Amino acid sequence: MGGLAELTRSLAGLQGPVLAHLHRLVASWGPLADLCFADLLLFVPLHGDDEGESQRFVIVGHVRPTTNQTAYRHDVVGTVVDEGERPLVAQALRSGTIVEGDVDLSDDLGRLQVLAIPVRWEGQVVAVCSRESKPDLGRQPGELERTYLSVFHRFAAMIADGAFPFAAEDAETEEAPRVGDGALVLDAEGRVVYASPNAVSALHRLGVHVNAEGERLADLGLEEVAVHTAFAIGAPVTEEIERGHEVTVVLRCLPLLEDGAATGALLLLRDISDLRRRDRLLVSMDATIREIHHRVKNNLQTISSLLRLQGRRLTSREAKQAIEESVRRIRSIALVHETLSQEPTGDVPFNDIVRPLVRTVEESLGSPDRPVRFRVEGDAGRLPARVVTPLAVVLTELLQNAADHAFPLEVPAPLADASEEASVTVHLDNDGERLRMEVADNGVGLPPGFDLAGAKGLGLSIVRSLVTSQIEGSISMRSGDGGSRPGAVIEVHVPLALAQHVVR
Ligand SMILES: Nc1ncnc2c1ncn2[C@@H]1O[C@H](COP(=O)(O)OP(=O)(O)OP(=O)(O)O)[C@@H](O)[C@H]1O
Ligand SMILES: [Mg+2]
Repeated sequence: MGGLAELTRSLAGLQGPVLAHLHRLVASWGPLADLCFADLLLFVPLHGDDEGESQRFVIVGHVRPTTNQTAYRHDVVGTVVDEGERPLVAQALRSGTIVEGDVDLSDDLGRLQVLAIPVRWEGQVVAVCSRESKPDLGRQPGELERTYLSVFHRFAAMIADGAFPFAAEDAETEEAPRVGDGALVLDAEGRVVYASPNAVSALHRLGVHVNAEGERLADLGLEEVAVHTAFAIGAPVTEEIERGHEVTVVLRCLPLLEDGAATGALLLLRDISDLRRRDRLLVSMDATIREIHHRVKNNLQTISSLLRLQGRRLTSREAKQAIEESVRRIRSIALVHETLSQEPTGDVPFNDIVRPLVRTVEESLGSPDRPVRFRVEGDAGRLPARVVTPLAVVLTELLQNAADHAFPLEVPAPLADASEEASVTVHLDNDGERLRMEVADNGVGLPPGFDLAGAKGLGLSIVRSLVTSQIEGSISMRSGDGGSRPGAVIEVHVPLALAQHVVR
């Protein structure tokens, strides 16, 4: 066993484009393994061996067929073998031709049937691709098997010619069909010469109920663009065919090339209706969630308008004020839903909400003789919806408190120093694990003996309950350090890892 060190060393001897050719081969040889019902192995000759010494190879790739059992139960990638063990591989490398025969690998593998195909790149044999299977026991192959094998031999000739893997490979996706999903073999005129049973089923799903053999795709009422293009450019082309919303079939056309000209094609078909239906469902679920947020926002706005109307009819100052506060709280929740209705994911950049919240409080102040400047610093990043709503309400209360209590009109003295304007700063800081939100003002500070736990006001009760129960965070309030305007500093900590956990 040579292991990966040898593997890398041998590959390091290869230049970029050669390596890219081998990578493309390994990325696209799945259907070939299916067609030959056998394992495919890629042998790269090890360089640096002395003249006359036997040639050694390292196995750099292996693919198992999905249409048959594998001959290899163990992983062989990285194994180093020599010419003595693999005479056919060495022969293919030297002669540059396809060599067929048996090889006895003794131990647990026993006798294998081998087809050693030289891998050519720009006229040079750079590796050997070997098809390996347990000997069949003289069983008569059916039509499907014979057809697949003959198509495989055409691909094998392309490998030996340097025409496969295709230079301009459109990237194979997860959804790329394999031979077992459905295969059509086309002749040089694009007529179907063989349709596998699964291909026939896929055609049925597309509404084709006649016998496809002898027909062109266009005669069957199918789009022929992929086939035309693949024949014209000599490279694979993938296309999705839809029938209404219900049926989606992906079609991948691999042209079979001889001396650069397409002499036919292998057409792989896969019914991916279920995958597409699930995609559409997810998209429509997202759209539905956004629509719901939009409606919640509208409903909340209606509620706050109704309350406001009711408030106007009241005469008691206290009652009017209570209604006004409720209107404000509802508005800030509506704001969150409006933002959520515009976000495709469940996360919201919280700063997008902070600014309009600040503006609402600013507008509610409305006393130009005592201007208060609001500032937002830092970035809260994207926060999950579960955190955003309560946090928006908390911030509204804290901003409102600063506006209501930090700069009372009846305490003009400390504010006499006109050089220092009244200000409220929201500072946000998200380190990925937790969010710190600080609301600091430069006002009169908290009343003497203030105790958050004992605060009776509705505002702070709401804040306390939201922070501890809904976002499982913590809050602290303190007055600033001394001076005539100590100010109040309120800090809220929100654990984000936990918040995300709660969302799920
Ligand atoms: N930034 C601040 N500066 C000075 N005092 C504050 C500040 N924030 C809160 N306080 C004090 O904390 C008390 C409780 O605030 P709380 O929000 O619970 O009630 P409220 O604002 O009086 O009434 P409500 O919010 O229900 O309208 C306030 O009355 C005020 O004395
Ligand atoms: Mg308050």
